[in-house]
Amino acid sequence: MPDPRAAHAVQLEAEDDVAGFRRAARRLVAQRVPPDQVSWFVSSAAESDLFGAVAGGDEALADDAPALMLPGFFAAECQHAALHADPARFGLLYRLAWRLLHEPGLRHDPLDADRIAIAQMARAVRRDMHKMTAFVRFRPLSAPTDDGWGVTHVAWFEPLHHTVRATAPFFVRRFAQMPWAILTPERSARWDGHRLAFGPGARREDAPGADAGEQLWLTYYENIFNPARLKLKMMQKEMPRHYWKNLPEAVLIQPLTAASAARSGQMVAQGGTEPARRRPAASIALRLDAPQWSSTADAVPATLAALHAATERCRACPIGQHATQAVPGVGPEGAQCMVVGEQPGDQEDLRGQPFVGPAGQLLNRAMAQLGWPRESVYLTNAVKHFKFEPRGKRRIHKTPAQQEAMACAHWLEGEIALVRPKALVALGATAARALLGRPVAVTAERGQWLMRPDGLPVLVTLHPAALLRMPQQQFDAAFGDWLADLGLAAAAQLAEAR
Ligand code: URA
Repeated sequence: MPDPRAAHAVQLEAEDDVAGFRRAARRLVAQRVPPDQVSWFVSSAAESDLFGAVAGGDEALADDAPALMLPGFFAAECQHAALHADPARFGLLYRLAWRLLHEPGLRHDPLDADRIAIAQMARAVRRDMHKMTAFVRFRPLSAPTDDGWGVTHVAWFEPLHHTVRATAPFFVRRFAQMPWAILTPERSARWDGHRLAFGPGARREDAPGADAGEQLWLTYYENIFNPARLKLKMMQKEMPRHYWKNLPEAVLIQPLTAASAARSGQMVAQGGTEPARRRPAASIALRLDAPQWSSTADAVPATLAALHAATERCRACPIGQHATQAVPGVGPEGAQCMVVGEQPGDQEDLRGQPFVGPAGQLLNRAMAQLGWPRESVYLTNAVKHFKFEPRGKRRIHKTPAQQEAMACAHWLEGEIALVRPKALVALGATAARALLGRPVAVTAERGQWLMRPDGLPVLVTLHPAALLRMPQQQFDAAFGDWLADLGLAAAAQLAEAR
């Protein structure tokens, strides 16, 4: 509602009408209207009629006033802060713009209360957008299309701020081939594969409910939950409670966390496992200058167990003789999806299991957020032994050479033949090249299904270690993009399971 004491009431078209706010602010500054003379409101359709005559209206939105000479940080913060749920945000933004224009010292005072308030709003909005990219859960729905019936993926989501329009392009980029709709109480976004459209808000009942596939997913989630890794505070920070109600796996969080102390006690009582054999790192000297390639590759064995035993003996390149052990793939034979990394790292080499070190933990976190059970996929590496360079007591990862990856290719192909996945995911360039048989520019080709000559689709994305190397400021956005890539494979697997 406009403040009846204010001389100027500005009506914006929608809660996320950032462009309308900017136009009105330019006009008000040009007319020298101070902030305490302005009242901002966003009207419903009925209110538009009621207040159509109030100063503001069409005239207020005319785009004829000169641009404001504001510092760059204001434009960046305004873009997000204007989407905050606080109804006072437009007034605050206009006041800050006005003060920046009239108080020259303010641009150098990041501790000013208005600047802090706007920065906090902008941060909260960015966080909400990021959470939306991570927590939207699509469910397939048969729906009429231009050419008959097709499957649309529909998600129900409740953002904290007015972020749907601003976040929708992310889903267009990431799910370009898949028709989808995101329904929220305030607005809905729809993508038909060609056009992004926005409509009115919806109700939770308008989105499809859980189905049998989802029950399967929950069972997997329960099985992969590792009580020893539970960090409740961290989990709630990453996955705030507000979002739980629309996350299928969230119903399990409370009972699983309640039981976690007892379960981790059991794990401790069972004791650890010893690596098959361990060489002191300092005694290892890699002789990469004199590779010892075997002349003939072993034939691919008929079972996964035999294949794993054969990789243990493999000396087709020099890496194998220096590693503690070959690290076999893990996961069900017949898994729908095979996820392929580069090579085992230090911890994987010692424990004989793939993705148990830091990169594996990040992969676990992503898969948990996607509701994609780790134990439902077959997880392996392009190269089966750990290549490293000894440095004091430490063993520093070295990227395998192309020749070494090629020497391992028949083991990987053997796993594909035995597991018979419907889709492959390549984490990083080594895996992508091994699976596609050509050099792959990961950043250019990520996030889309590429086809192998045998017809198996391959989704390429970053290796988790690449994310771990990023500075924190880049990490959040990169992790969201990574989740979206992996989400394509998770969605394909879940759709196939239905
Ligand atoms: N990095 C990989 O590519 N694979 C692993 O198993 C661990 C880290």
